[in-house]
Amino acid sequence: MKGKINELISEKQIDKRIREIAEQISRDYAGKEVKLICILKGSIFYTCELAKRMTVPVTMDFMNVSSYGSGTKSSGNIMIKKDLDESIEGLDVIIVEDIIDSGNTLSRLIPLLKERKPASLKVTTLLDKPDRREADVDVDYVGFEIEDKFVVGYGLDYAQSYRDLPFIGELEI
Ligand code: IMP
Ligand code: MG
Repeated sequence: MKGKINELISEKQIDKRIREIAEQISRDYAGKEVKLICILKGSIFYTCELAKRMTVPVTMDFMNVSSYGSGTKSSGNIMIKKDLDESIEGLDVIIVEDIIDSGNTLSRLIPLLKERKPASLKVTTLLDKPDRREADVDVDYVGFEIEDKFVVGYGLDYAQSYRDLPFIGELEI
């Protein structure tokens, strides 16, 4: 699929910011092991780059939750398409998101995961669009706050395309 993409955040900027977050998480979780929950598919790049740079021991699991439809806005409902493979009971868990937009996905996912009794549950997101928030979400580690623009790249898609771009860009649609 072809469209015009304007680069907003370069690969170098993303790399630097992920390093900083990895250092901060490693300090905050010193002496502990962290379970990263990658929310598929958008968070794959961020999860891998974060995990590689963390200095505390890391385990990973994957979950695919989706809002209905394939448009550029998410609806209020989420569907679990793929659940975690392992229990998170008693573990220090960090949910890794690509972007928080309305907050609807996470505001539903967080209580669901809390029921599984992790020792702790925090959230990191590479991107945050605070202007579009509809549901309250506590986010512990934010990569970049961005304006209300539809962005692609670094795992984020438009109709499954553009995930492979090494930078974050605005898609003109
Ligand atoms: P929320 O439930 O509205 O916070 O939606 C979060 C999900 O919507 C993200 O995990 C993305 O999959 C998708 N999304 C929201 N904004 C964008 C965007 O600008 N580009 C690509 N995907 C987006
Ligand atoms: Mg997503």
